[in-house]
Amino acid sequence: MGSFSDKLHEAEGELAGFFRGAFREGEKLLQDLSNLAEMVKKEIAAWIARPEVLRMLLEDLQRLRPNLVVGQKAFVTKYADVLEVLKANGNFTVASIYADKMRRTSGDFILGMEDTPQYRREAGILHAAIHPDDFARIREFDRESTEAIITQALPQGRMDVAGGLFRQVPARLVSRYFGVPGPDEPTQMRWMRTIFWEIFLNFSNDPQVAQAAEQSSAEMKAYLGSWIMARKALMAQGRAPDDFLTRLLALQAQPETRLDDEGVGRNVGGVVVGAVDTTCTAASQALDELLKRPDQLEGARQAALAGNDALFSAYVFEALRFHPLNPLLLRHCEKDYTLAAGTPRQALIPAGSEVFAMTLGGMMDPEVFPHPEEFRTDRPYESYIIFGYGQHRCFGEPINRVQVPALLKSVVALKGLRRAPGEEGQIHYDGPFPDRLVVEFDGR
Ligand code: HEM
Repeated sequence: MGSFSDKLHEAEGELAGFFRGAFREGEKLLQDLSNLAEMVKKEIAAWIARPEVLRMLLEDLQRLRPNLVVGQKAFVTKYADVLEVLKANGNFTVASIYADKMRRTSGDFILGMEDTPQYRREAGILHAAIHPDDFARIREFDRESTEAIITQALPQGRMDVAGGLFRQVPARLVSRYFGVPGPDEPTQMRWMRTIFWEIFLNFSNDPQVAQAAEQSSAEMKAYLGSWIMARKALMAQGRAPDDFLTRLLALQAQPETRLDDEGVGRNVGGVVVGAVDTTCTAASQALDELLKRPDQLEGARQAALAGNDALFSAYVFEALRFHPLNPLLLRHCEKDYTLAAGTPRQALIPAGSEVFAMTLGGMMDPEVFPHPEEFRTDRPYESYIIFGYGQHRCFGEPINRVQVPALLKSVVALKGLRRAPGEEGQIHYDGPFPDRLVVEFDGR
């Protein structure tokens, strides 16, 4: 699994021993837990790859110190408190976390904005460009594209699902549905990955990651400028495809939904950079969790074969609870805030703190997810916080509620689906992104 895994193994032993020791040896060692914040940020890629360690630590924290505040770092681990942080968006803000990096890459974008008039206007316009009948269209596109890739792999009886399917199909959806194919598929995929990595996962400000993203952003901006002009020409001739880009440009006709061309470019750019590796990661990690559990894999396969989409989706989202895309959401605390006021968990978070809202912890909270260690398909979808919560809850959620199960369904339905032997059959990460996961099968 390369160097990230090695780093994780080091971090794992060091941190787990240290953490348990801290609780044994007493209060003063809790101070050192601020290291946890730095380690999580520095090694985020490794933590994403192996959530078991973080789950174990979160379980301890929930029992012993559910809201741990050390200096200007706050770890929030219970479901109710994670939601309280994400709901109190006037106090727990995002701009200082995302906005600078967005400005330097894809441009100003809603996820880097507080609940301002500009946020509401732009979020409203983006939602207006998604139509209710799109979801059926997306499901069909994903089904066809997935089936075509599987058909090609049938003679070999094996395929790389992460790099060869779960990344390819969302990239093609970005071309066809969002209207941004890029000059070619590898370039488009490179842009999506490098820019996303920098904005959302380069917590340690690795200069190589920043540089790759800046290069990609310069290329993408130039491309989008001329692509928008070309699209307008097609629209004038009545030959434009009906996609997200054409719709945003059509919305320019009314003043209330008009974004200028620069605004269309940064919004389309902002949406598509979050649309490929997110989906690929979710699909790869959900499949990996199912492969770890033969009974659940068989249950999901039966649901897929019976065409029971609701049950199949329940398998997928429960699998993601164990290994979500984001184990945490970061926020900045503007003013002193008493969290969980009046409960035994009450904690004062000082102004200026960095707040780790541990969504992974929330989804392991026994008060909301009884017997959290059990894989169950009867948990209400609404309780999952895989797609975040509150003002910034994922814009792509309705798409991915359809897309992630659609990507997995034909794969899980394959006869004798199993991991390839050895390392190939484990997820190989490129930094924080699943890049390769080889499975074998006996046929359709
Ligand atoms: C399975 C794949 C995905 C997962 C798990 C996911 C998860 C998330 C999460 C957790 C957030 C909240 C971030 C925060 O509060 O700090 C978020 C926000 C967002 N996501 Fe996704 N995402 C996925 C795919 C997508 C896709 C495909 C798109 C685009 C079509 C997208 C667009 C966005 C946008 C625009 C926001 C910001 C919304 C706002 O600020 O109002 N995401 N996503």
